[in-house]
Amino acid sequence: MSDKWEYLDEAMTASSRNTIKELFAQDPDRAKKFSLSAAGWFLDYSKNRIDRKTMNALVKLAEASDLRTEIEKMFTGEKINVTENRAVLHTALRNCDPDAKVLVDGKDVMPDVRAVLEQMGVFAEKVRKGVWRGHTGKKIRYVVNIGIGGSDLGPVMANIALTPYSKRSLKFFFVSNVDSTHLAETLRSVKAAETLFIVASKTFTTQETMSNAEAAKAWLVDKLGSKDAVAKHFVAVSTAAKEVAEFGIDTANMFGFWDWVGGRYSLPSAIGLSLMIAIGPANYRKFLRGYWKMDCHFRTAPFGKNMPVVLALLGILYSNGYGAESYCVLPYDQYLSRFPAYLQQMDMESNGKSVDKDGKPVECVTGPIEWGEPGTNGQHSFYQLIHQGTHLIPCDFIGCCQTHNPISDLHDKLMANLFAQTEALAFGKTEEECRAEGVPESLVPFKTFEGNKPTNTLLCDKLTPETLGALIALYEHKVFVQGVIFNVYSYDQWGVQLGKVLAKGVLKDLTAEKPSGRHDASTNQLIARYRKALGR
Ligand code: F6P
Repeated sequence: MSDKWEYLDEAMTASSRNTIKELFAQDPDRAKKFSLSAAGWFLDYSKNRIDRKTMNALVKLAEASDLRTEIEKMFTGEKINVTENRAVLHTALRNCDPDAKVLVDGKDVMPDVRAVLEQMGVFAEKVRKGVWRGHTGKKIRYVVNIGIGGSDLGPVMANIALTPYSKRSLKFFFVSNVDSTHLAETLRSVKAAETLFIVASKTFTTQETMSNAEAAKAWLVDKLGSKDAVAKHFVAVSTAAKEVAEFGIDTANMFGFWDWVGGRYSLPSAIGLSLMIAIGPANYRKFLRGYWKMDCHFRTAPFGKNMPVVLALLGILYSNGYGAESYCVLPYDQYLSRFPAYLQQMDMESNGKSVDKDGKPVECVTGPIEWGEPGTNGQHSFYQLIHQGTHLIPCDFIGCCQTHNPISDLHDKLMANLFAQTEALAFGKTEEECRAEGVPESLVPFKTFEGNKPTNTLLCDKLTPETLGALIALYEHKVFVQGVIFNVYSYDQWGVQLGKVLAKGVLKDLTAEKPSGRHDASTNQLIARYRKALGR
């Protein structure tokens, strides 16, 4: 078959033959047949519009996209980020094989990876044990990570997720927004003499991060009365040593990473420093081990039994086969409350592309609109639309069998809701069932649920550093697989540039003696109104 998308047509033909309810009625072993285990996670994908033929055709789509070769290219450091001429090696950051060698331009990157991990560990322990002191000799009690995008979302998400492993005497804050309120409210909650600022920025040029970092530095110097205080209260995580030094941070207190780590894939690099301080180096290494276990599974498992590949193929079935526009991730765990936001950047900044690798318009629908909220909160908000609205929205439900906080039967109730939602979405409720329940005829149309709504359920025994690492790697690889099949470059993000450049020109016009007036009529009007409100 020359056109690989014909495999999707083949998958669709098989998929549209039966409803999920019919598929379950036909095969009592269906749940077992469409389930997988990897790296501490169990995936039940039986509540999808699939049978064996559908999955076989989807696997052929992956094979016809040369997925196996592409996976090897990534793991072995080939420069698959072509538009930036970079390798894509976040997998090297968590490679736990002590003998592993990963070459970029002929140089093994693993010694540097291990050295930075070691440096982070030493520093994290100093802060945790109170050995690292502030300018006035006080112990650190507050850690403020200043970063945005990949230098913020991962650290925030993981910090919340691993709260049970966190040193509770230390308080963590994350400042990202260039809205001064974010910094101001944070500074109100900390004491300068006991605060460590981590300036996290791959490039060390990002407007938001550098503006917040400069403002935090000025605040600290003002509070502690000396510029010398900066050395004890600011460290940097970056690839840009020169810029770090120019900012005034001693490069001895810089934790490096490399251009082959994409921002949205950088959590297991030094960008995870705040997390390591929170959970300690030993737990951090378990976190990396979790990633690595999923990496090994992804690299070796046959596609039909490969968790990231299966999730990716199902996603493509719905987006490109059924025309689903969005995709919902629903963690039934409060500790994963920021996981959907984290995934948004990972997926949408990677595969939100409309040009293929040859620079031509893509032939398919690329990355989905991704969203979600923790359960059960979402049930009382947007689930109505998923159950009875006109959009098809495939969902991933994520749950942990054991809670860190057993209180009466709350956890049983939480999990009962998770399982019940997937049941309701798949099987719905027919008109006959409504009538049998005594629903008045006039209400039958409103109380009928169509069902046949696809869901995946991911379960782990407990949310731990290891299972969290594996979960993140699962989605990273899912995004990779989709990018390969869409034939787009997943590791650049040119689409965020234009707004950044224009903002510089607009900023000048907000503050200049006289605005240039060189924007469109709407933008000129907004600038004028803003200036008037401020008396400029
Ligand atoms: O604006 C997009 C982006 O480049 C992301 O890809 C990145 O995670 C974020 O900005 C922050 O970049 P940096 O770590 O260089 O400050």
